[in-house]
Amino acid sequence: MPSTIELRIRRQDAPGASPRWEEFSLPYRPNMNVITCLMEIQRHPVTKQGRRTTPVVWDCSCLEEVCGACTMRVNGTVRQSCTALIDSLKQPVSLEPLSKFPVVRDLAVDRQKMFDNLIRVKAWVELDGTYALGPGPRLAPRDQAAAYPYAQCMTCGCCMEACPQYNDRSEFLGAAPIGQVRLFNGHPTGRMNAEERLRALMGPGGIGECGKAQNCEAVCPKNIPLNDAIAQVGRQVTIRMLKDLFG
Ligand code: SF4
Ligand code: SF4
Ligand code: FES
Repeated sequence: MPSTIELRIRRQDAPGASPRWEEFSLPYRPNMNVITCLMEIQRHPVTKQGRRTTPVVWDCSCLEEVCGACTMRVNGTVRQSCTALIDSLKQPVSLEPLSKFPVVRDLAVDRQKMFDNLIRVKAWVELDGTYALGPGPRLAPRDQAAAYPYAQCMTCGCCMEACPQYNDRSEFLGAAPIGQVRLFNGHPTGRMNAEERLRALMGPGGIGECGKAQNCEAVCPKNIPLNDAIAQVGRQVTIRMLKDLFG
């Protein structure tokens, strides 16, 4: 067993500030994960060289790979830091913020763009809660099973981080919102807004900008079948465009 845990953390004091690297060395304890190391540094913010520094800033909430808030690059790979076990990582462990979202501070990024893109595709079921609507439509178990994987999306951003088409030069909305269009267009009530969702995926930033590189599905921690979603929603968009064209 090693006697220490060695970490390299990319620090940035404010949006737009120059980044720098800092090294930390913590006493080894078994079964630690990246978040417990960050908490340790928060309690004792001193670098490996013995220089006092500011506590590292990061986001987290559920600590069980459900909320997606703690997503960062760990040893260069995008993943949730709460489930990144130190014992399974090569040391020194390098921690960097997501590169496709603006840094707020250190490892915390502004993921608002992802939520804006979910709004753009109306990723919800429209409901009027002002009166009792009665029971909802029934969904066959087979359709429920097919829809369930898409319902597990935690808006973590891994699929955008890995996507070559998702960058500063493009408005491409990434794979997660396309997965949500697959989910809600397949729902008997959600289907009422299917046309709006498909129109939101036409034109700049839409599904036509997907390069089909399939990195998104490869990195999705929830194993969401994003390639199937892109294929199915792509067909729906094409049919909608033809219908619009020929009335
Ligand atoms: S298939 Fe490739 S280009 Fe399309 S969303 Fe996934 S990673 Fe991006
Ligand atoms: S589709 Fe997967 S990788 Fe993309 S945001 Fe959802 S859970 Fe994360
Ligand atoms: S803290 Fe929620 S996924 Fe890691």
